[in-house]
Formats: sequence, structure tokens, C-alpha cells
Amino acid sequence: MKGIILAGGSGTRLHPLTKVTSKQLLPVYNQPMIYFPLNTLLKAGIRDILIIVAPEHSGDFVNLLGSGKQFGARFAYEVQDHPEGLAQAYLIAADFIGDESVAMILGDNIFTHDFGPAVRSFKSGATVFAKQVPDAQRFGVIEFGQGNTVLSIEEKPAKPKSNFAQVGFYIFDNRVIEFARNLKPSKRGELEIVDLGNIYLKNKELHAEVLEGDWIDAGTFESLYRAATVVREKDLGIDMDAYRVHVEIKNVKKPMAM
Ligand code: TTP
Repeated sequence: MKGIILAGGSGTRLHPLTKVTSKQLLPVYNQPMIYFPLNTLLKAGIRDILIIVAPEHSGDFVNLLGSGKQFGARFAYEVQDHPEGLAQAYLIAADFIGDESVAMILGDNIFTHDFGPAVRSFKSGATVFAKQVPDAQRFGVIEFGQGNTVLSIEEKPAKPKSNFAQVGFYIFDNRVIEFARNLKPSKRGELEIVDLGNIYLKNKELHAEVLEGDWIDAGTFESLYRAATVVREKDLGIDMDAYRVHVEIKNVKKPMAM
């Protein structure tokens, strides 16, 4: 399975912090924000990762993350010229995805959940993830039926049908590229990820799982502050020592046969 970190956008809610840099490069306690979604993908076993960035900051992401070798992974980069919606990522990433399925994480989302089991057991259709929140009207809202069946997903509804928000981690099979090509922009002019979910829902191929642990969308001053606190208390983020060991072990020369 391929991975995408969607790290473009304008970050207007964090102005003036984001006037000269990208939101996803801001510090969250002791690491740049993008390390957290990167760690989530790596922990789930995904090693081929496309990082989608805004044009103004593309060089900074490459300087920070490089080829991916130091993380035991392979990184590719694409520029999103204008932030025209989350679902646009699948158009930008079409060549990168090839004929595989794809897990996408938002570059400002911090999780403690282990997505490895969902990634490993994924076969086809779509798997999205939900978390109970007090302010569901700010998010895509998932209404559950019996078991984990999904009855509806609505983007920022005035009257949410549940308090389950759809979080920023999505697994889609390869048809997502074709579905994204046929999407029309919403009233706010964006290609909406909720519309993709609804196509799978109509085909009865949408599965939703309830998240364990923390989920922070670090896009506001308050949530950015909370993110730093949680990261500090729970010691989250990339353990660079673990990766360094991994790289060194790989480079150790085998002893010559006697
Ligand atoms: P948002 O937080 O919805 O948007 P934003 O980052 O532009 O911030 P603001 O609303 O304060 O202006 O985006 C969620 C994540 O998705 C974030 O990591 C940025 C990314 N994103 C893109 O890369 N491209 C896009 O077209 C959009 C809408 C978001």
C-alpha cells in the first residue's frame, strides 16, 4: 500500500505563524509537525510515501525530510499549486499510486492510534476512521448503523446526526483515482473527501472504524498548544535513535566467508 501525507493548504487559522512557513513545519514541542503523521504511516508499515506540499515551502520539506533513507523509507514530493480540496490529492498522486491502494493522512493530524492492523487487513473498498467529539458540526460527521456499518457521512452539517467526526486518515482502493477524476467542486470550491466516501457508501463498500487513543487536528492555536502538551506528556513522535540503528544495521558489511 502507498502512503500520502497531505501537507499543503494555507494555514490561515494560524496566521501570523504561517505567513512565512508551512503549518506542517511548525514545532509541536520537540519535533516538526509533519514528523507525527510521518511516524503514523511508518508505524503502520508504509514505506513508499508521497508528500504533497504548497509551492512556497516545497524546498523546506525536502531539506527537512530528504529521500526518506534516514527513516528506512522512500519519499516522493508533489506540489499542489492551489489548495483545492483534500480529494485533489488523489489526482496529484495518480502516477505515484499506480495500481495500488493508498492510505492518506493529513499533515496536521496527530494520532496515537495504531493503523497497522487496518492497513494490513485492507482488501478493497474504503476504510475511514471516526472519533467522538463535542463539536461534530466542524467536521465530516459519520452516522453509524448496526455494528460498524455507515449510514451517512456529511461534511460540516448544521445538525450532526452523531458526534462521530471523520478523522484525517483514509484508506481507499485504487478506484479512488477514477472517482476523484469525476468529482465536481463543492459550494466552497473544493474537491471534498466526503464525496469520495459517499461514492463507496453508495456501493456498500465503506467501512468505518472507531479510533483508539488521541486525535488532534493541530490547525488552531488552541489545538496546537494541546498537541504540544500531549506530545510532551506521552513522548510521541519519531524515535530517531530507532531509525538510526535500523540504517546502521543495514549498512554493516557481512563478514567474509572463511
Ligand atoms: P485545513 O486545516 O482544512 O486547511 P488549511 O491547512 O489550509 O488551514 P486553514 O483552514 O487554517 O486555512 O487542511 C487540513 C490538512 O490538509 C492540512 O494539513 C492542510 C492539508 N490541505 C492540503 O494539503 N490541500 C488542500 O487543498 C487542503 C484543503 C488541505
